Amino acid sequence: MTDVRMVDVAALADVPEGTMKMVQVDGTDVLLVHSDGQLHAMQGICSHEYFELDKGFLTGDSVTCALHLSRFDLETGEALDPPAELPLVKYPAVVEDGRILLELPAGAVPVNE
Ligand code: FES
Repeated sequence: MTDVRMVDVAALADVPEGTMKMVQVDGTDVLLVHSDGQLHAMQGICSHEYFELDKGFLTGDSVTCALHLSRFDLETGEALDPPAELPLVKYPAVVEDGRILLELPAGAVPVNE
């Protein structure tokens, strides 16, 4: 069984409702999305080509990559439109005392690319 670690990445106040914020964990980009009262965390670089998703658009329950307009489901990370095929890796997030903590495996942060 893989060891997990809790990583403090930001204050909840830094990611107001309806916004996205990119943070780095061990040099890996992680996108935080606050939408509909839910905090989501997922890989910050598109699974199609190298493009930062915080330059994209929050579109209801999905995030749209600005380069080729694939949408990704916030809940599952699934790619909803081509050209992207692979889902974004999601990371479980919890909020404690106003801080956002991610549950990550020990070692490298997993990313689909
Ligand atoms: S780089 Fe995101 S859809 Fe192509």
